Amino acid sequence: MRRPLVAGNWKMHGTRASVAELIKGLHALALPEGVEVAVFPPSLYINNVLAGLEGKSIAVGAQNCAAEPAQGALTGEVASSQLADAGCTLVLVGHSERRQILGESDELLVRKFAAAQASGLTPVLCIGETLEQREAGQTIEVVNRQLGSVMDVLGVEVFARAVVAYEPVWAIGTGLTATPEQAQEVHAAIRAQLDAEDAEVARGVRILYGGSVKAANAVELFGMPDIDGGLIGGASLNADEFGAICRAAGN
Ligand code: PGA
Repeated sequence: MRRPLVAGNWKMHGTRASVAELIKGLHALALPEGVEVAVFPPSLYINNVLAGLEGKSIAVGAQNCAAEPAQGALTGEVASSQLADAGCTLVLVGHSERRQILGESDELLVRKFAAAQASGLTPVLCIGETLEQREAGQTIEVVNRQLGSVMDVLGVEVFARAVVAYEPVWAIGTGLTATPEQAQEVHAAIRAQLDAEDAEVARGVRILYGGSVKAANAVELFGMPDIDGGLIGGASLNADEFGAICRAAGN
């Protein structure tokens, strides 16, 4: 049995005041047993969130890391070893906003993925197609290429210590959600790609769905056999809504 994971990606949102408010709300949540919960604050607030959530079983991750694990002369970046030292246990790799807006390539993301694991962090590899690619019938090909770029260089075994998040770009922050059936089809294809190399890794890896997940659609999505939780953007900025999504994963 795969343990569901619900992860909140706060993106570039928050002030000291709103982060303190959100921490308070998260602290007060009744979280379901058997569901792993994590939040990914802006790196500026990671220490506050770690301190504020002490004693609460919510893991804290970063939204990005440098491509090299060691600290060094690289202005503006944060090394995976520094994130681990701070107390992070996870890091997002390849969110579509970073791929599209900042031009992060598959090659760069392989290095970030490896750097994360070298520091003992669990990478959450984000993959997904654009609307154009979906309409051209290229969805599976695109996610297979994104996943394959990591597998080809680092081997399938690295996914025994990683999470995959399928996030159709057209569903992120748009209010459009993939139907449970659309998402399941892609999740099954991702698992099949891993299964072709290593059945045990494929059975164990958690594949999250992301893209306009809310409490109202979470139960249906999380009910699909290959959807093992969610990566939640907008709805994770509201503690009560996020808590309801966590509970949906416990059903
Ligand atoms: P959204 O974002 O839930 O606001 O659509 C999801 C994500 O980008 O991780």
